[in-house]
Amino acid sequence: MQRNLLLAICGLVAFGGMSWVGQAEDQKSPDIPRQIPEGPLGDAIRLGRDLVENTTSHRLSKPFVGNALNCTSCHLMNGTDQQAASFLGVATAYPAWSPREKTVITLEDRILNCFMRSCNGIRPPLGSEVSVSIAAYITWLSTDQLIRMNPERPAGPHAVPQLKDIAQADGQRGAKLYSERCASCHAANGQGNKENPPVWGARSFNDGAGLANVVQLASWLKVAMPLNETDLIVQEALDLAAFVNSHERPKFRLSEHMPPRDQLGTFNSKLRPEDADSAK
Ligand code: HEC
Ligand code: HEC
Repeated sequence: MQRNLLLAICGLVAFGGMSWVGQAEDQKSPDIPRQIPEGPLGDAIRLGRDLVENTTSHRLSKPFVGNALNCTSCHLMNGTDQQAASFLGVATAYPAWSPREKTVITLEDRILNCFMRSCNGIRPPLGSEVSVSIAAYITWLSTDQLIRMNPERPAGPHAVPQLKDIAQADGQRGAKLYSERCASCHAANGQGNKENPPVWGARSFNDGAGLANVVQLASWLKVAMPLNETDLIVQEALDLAAFVNSHERPKFRLSEHMPPRDQLGTFNSKLRPEDADSAK
């Protein structure tokens, strides 16, 4: 009798301990689903995650990337960071209105557009293995979340908050800050090294990418950099963004980023590459 009671108490303690561990995990990452589905869908999700992490080197995505950046270079921790251009909950926002393409776009379209601009590459065909598996991975990260399509812009519920009431950005102050806070990783010449990606120049994002805009870059830096030490105040983020974007980077011309017509799938946009090269 006594022994049973003791066992019951032990059981309670053990059970309590387990649920506490579960809670702690939840607090760290409330939105990340734990289980990848079985079978081919699970394979696609795992492949998508691999492509997001190793975009420049994976044989499937490599042909479509034109710089040294992987998706995870900006969508930190394969998009599971809650703040830095998070992929969590993103699939709930699509199809969404896109002011840039002047039409309603799908999640797949949004992914492919990042290939053309942020990765300075060629748009993979809609429906290709690259496109579908990355969409599968990002959609999996929205498991159990409510659909809330975005009628204003192609952005999910954790999108980087855009800085408002912008003060004047000062690139000279930014240069000093860059050498103090950034150069140790991205190098004084902005070209980075094996572990740290280039932040300007031919191997960085092109001037049609979101981050090529000073306010957007500042907004992202505020929540993402310095890596693991995101303590910039708004003015510092702006000054740094002005400095980083004062350097040369590839020029975006839409027609140079479209595949041959027969490999296009569908380009869901009202922009025509032939006459929209001026459209950023
Ligand atoms: C140079 C940085 C950079 C790279 C590299 C990059 N992206 Fe992005 N991407 C962004 C930024 C910035 C946004 C806007 C995010 C926001 O507002 O939270 C964005 C938005 C997105 C969105 C829409 C997010 C939303 O909230 O709706 C998707 C999907 C996406 N990117 C996929 C990708 C994929 C897939 C790759 C790799 C092929 C990639 N991106 C590479 C910077 C980048
Ligand atoms: C401790 C090293 C470290 C420091 C310090 C650091 N970064 Fe980064 N940064 C990284 C890494 C690593 C990535 C890519 C993230 C990944 O792959 O996980 C990155 C990504 C970036 C990107 C997006 C990808 C690209 O190359 O364009 C920009 C922009 C950037 N950092 C700017 C800055 C700025 C500005 C500072 C200074 C405020 C800074 N970083 C400080 C390591 C660092």
